[in-house]
Amino acid sequence: MPEFSSQPNTKPDTSALKHIAFIMDGNGRWAKTKGMPREYGHTVGARVFSDITEYCGDIGIDTVTVYAFSTENWKRPKREVDAIMKLFGDYIKKAADTMMKRNIRIIFLGSKAPFSEKVQRDMEEIEEKSKNNARTLNIAINYGGRNELVHAVNEAIAAGEPVTEETIGAHLYTKNSPPPDLIVRTGGKMRLSNFLLWQAAYAELYFCDTLWPDFSSADVDRAILEFNGRKRRFGGV
Ligand code: IPE
Ligand code: IPE
Ligand code: MG
Repeated sequence: MPEFSSQPNTKPDTSALKHIAFIMDGNGRWAKTKGMPREYGHTVGARVFSDITEYCGDIGIDTVTVYAFSTENWKRPKREVDAIMKLFGDYIKKAADTMMKRNIRIIFLGSKAPFSEKVQRDMEEIEEKSKNNARTLNIAINYGGRNELVHAVNEAIAAGEPVTEETIGAHLYTKNSPPPDLIVRTGGKMRLSNFLLWQAAYAELYFCDTLWPDFSSADVDRAILEFNGRKRRFGGV
């Protein structure tokens, strides 16, 4: 697709893109194409996640959100869930250094309750340590958009607040971030799978067939180029 490719070494224009979100889909199918178990796809996918989030920072995007594990993904075979949780545990052990070096604030979207006490502590520590950093990385893990809305409404009620768009927004896991301008889903499926249901109201959606472990910075550039060509109206004219 030469008409979509950006100039080599030219950074895309991200001036209209404050927040990009990724549904990182296709790890299992990618592994299958290599004759490997699904877990291998998650291992490679985790590396790609690091590269892509770093790239988004380099090109000047303030907020990046990734969908790492949904409230529905617990339905998967134990072996696969365990492998993903092991990768996540390893990631958060090292993440603090990376976040401080890159000036990134990390926030986990979703209830931490299902994780081990040690992992919960690590998650809280990184959130606290990085809270004054300039850019934001939201990691949606044990996240579901419906669950988030129920949680937000209950929090608002418990705080004695009226239920309004403002109070709901203020109790969402994403309360520190603007809504996503662009949601990218890899892996060929055209659905949100319970991701950012409230926040996606006016997001631009971009779907590509590339399986997440094959996703590259050039693919990010292509998505941004397409985004920059869209006219957003927010209901106006
Ligand atoms: C996305 O890849 C990662 C998670 C949902 C944890 P999948 O594991 O869904 O990969 P496919 O869609 O089955 O190929
Ligand atoms: C969405 O992918 C969740 C993540 C990428 C973490 P799924 O693979 O779980 O979505 P469905 O089941 O195809 O809708
Ligand atoms: Mg999938």
